[in-house]
Amino acid sequence: MERLDKFLCGAGAGSRSQVKELLKAGRVAVDGRTEKDGGRKIDPQRQTVTLDGDALGGKRRMAAVLNKPAGYITATEDGSQATVMELLPPAWKHLDLKPVGRLDKDTEGLLLFTNDGDLLHRLISPKKAVEKEYYARHEGQAGPEDVEAFERGLVLGDGTRCLPARLEPLGPGESMVVVCEGKYHQVRRMMASRGMTVTYLERRREGTLELGDLPRGAVRELTAEEITALEEK
Ligand code: URA
Repeated sequence: MERLDKFLCGAGAGSRSQVKELLKAGRVAVDGRTEKDGGRKIDPQRQTVTLDGDALGGKRRMAAVLNKPAGYITATEDGSQATVMELLPPAWKHLDLKPVGRLDKDTEGLLLFTNDGDLLHRLISPKKAVEKEYYARHEGQAGPEDVEAFERGLVLGDGTRCLPARLEPLGPGESMVVVCEGKYHQVRRMMASRGMTVTYLERRREGTLELGDLPRGAVRELTAEEITALEEK
């Protein structure tokens, strides 16, 4: 922890007296909130200090998980539709978080965000084959032949080849699906190729991270341990 005014001087914002003026003018913010008290203690490893909106001393690395509700598109901006960015706290705006991969507008559940480009690429890279687990409600009933077809690797109607995946029937019209890639509408198209139209889809796990009891629409920051576990996959 260190004093905000000292941190500002050290980060090259100006001399002691200049920093005092910057603070007084309301040009400094800590984690998105204007801060005028130079004596306030901050943790530069965990907090982001901005001058006129620009981060000083580097933006802290961050990852978060959202329990996405239906009705939001996975995009950083869109002219007409609501995006998942609207579900993040406004105080995180300056952290420049990006969604990791994509969930369809109607799909619910686990959606990761990060501002760490390496982590983002690692999680979406086909080479890393990070598992994504989905709960699906669908028409029809999955049987042993469907399980085997998933295991072999499906070929979709348009000729797209899927990597081997797991299908676990839970009961009539309900299954768990685990895939290691992120093709467009992947789970819906895989199920459709076996004659089962998906009516509801929820992502419950990505790699080592589980959705758990995070309420729908809620978001939380990942711990350092959770980030390390995702990186080690
Ligand atoms: N597969 C789909 O079909 N949709 C999603 O949103 C995610 C995986």
